[in-house]
Amino acid sequence: MTTAPTVPPPQTAMSWPDVEALDATGVMLARPRMGDAAATAEMQADPRLWVGVPETFRTTTTVRQEDEFRQFLDHWRAHGFGYWLVWEAGTGPGGHGATPDGRSGGTEAGPPPIGPIGLGGLRWLWWRERWVLNTYVRLAVAVQGRGLASSLLRRAIDRLAGDLADTTTVVVRTRPENAAMARLAHHLGFHEAGTEERSAGPYRILATRIGGGGPSGGDEATRPIDG
Ligand SMILES: CC(C)(COP(=O)(O)OP(=O)(O)OC[C@H]1O[C@@H](n2cnc3c(N)ncnc32)[C@H](O)[C@@H]1OP(=O)(O)O)[C@@H](O)C(=O)NCCC(=O)NCCS
Repeated sequence: MTTAPTVPPPQTAMSWPDVEALDATGVMLARPRMGDAAATAEMQADPRLWVGVPETFRTTTTVRQEDEFRQFLDHWRAHGFGYWLVWEAGTGPGGHGATPDGRSGGTEAGPPPIGPIGLGGLRWLWWRERWVLNTYVRLAVAVQGRGLASSLLRRAIDRLAGDLADTTTVVVRTRPENAAMARLAHHLGFHEAGTEERSAGPYRILATRIGGGGPSGGDEATRPIDG
């Protein structure tokens, strides 16, 4: 059983941009804002985005979503990074889906704002008595299969890897039915690390280690992930 954290999460030096282009994918990654909560909840309400997760454990109600969304915003405030909202370039309110050249979408003259098409990235999680980076990614069905999840996670992993002085474990915790997520994790270099029994049932754990460029590398480099 995981207990309350005994130490704060590791410090990272940088604060990630509020909005950035994801290479040549045509999508923008943006730091979420409270005003995006309702549109994000709408996007995540699609049952097809909860592969193998029983209905009562999905955070699809507005109340649950807002609660979780606040935690995502708090994480950005505390650590300068977190889960991104994904927007098609040129869509979205207030410049969230701004194009790479800085023009914002959803102007008075332009088309009506379109909601986010995904949410994903890494954030700190106290897990098995240490801080790990938890992987989250949920994309609208219409944009799945474009390689967006791989690009997004690769960017988050590479950026944090360069910034973490001590070796840090990154985990994917997914339902055994979720072949797409496991395949994606394997592509990104994660390996199988057992299972975990949670209230929604068993979860498959995939893990990788990043960082550790500092003088000691840290204890995590040799610590087993299982158990
Ligand atoms: C899982 C998910 C994030 C993958 O995102 P994506 O952008 O579509 O993934 P990519 O395009 O980068 O493809 C990743 C790999 O998964 C494979 N894949 C996609 N759908 C698949 C499926 N239903 N079954 C098996 N493999 C699948 C792709 O073919 C690709 O592998 P390949 O390069 O060997 O062909 C996306 O499907 C999603 O949001 N699903 C719903 C939410 C979810 O399950 N999130 C994870 C919760 S732990």
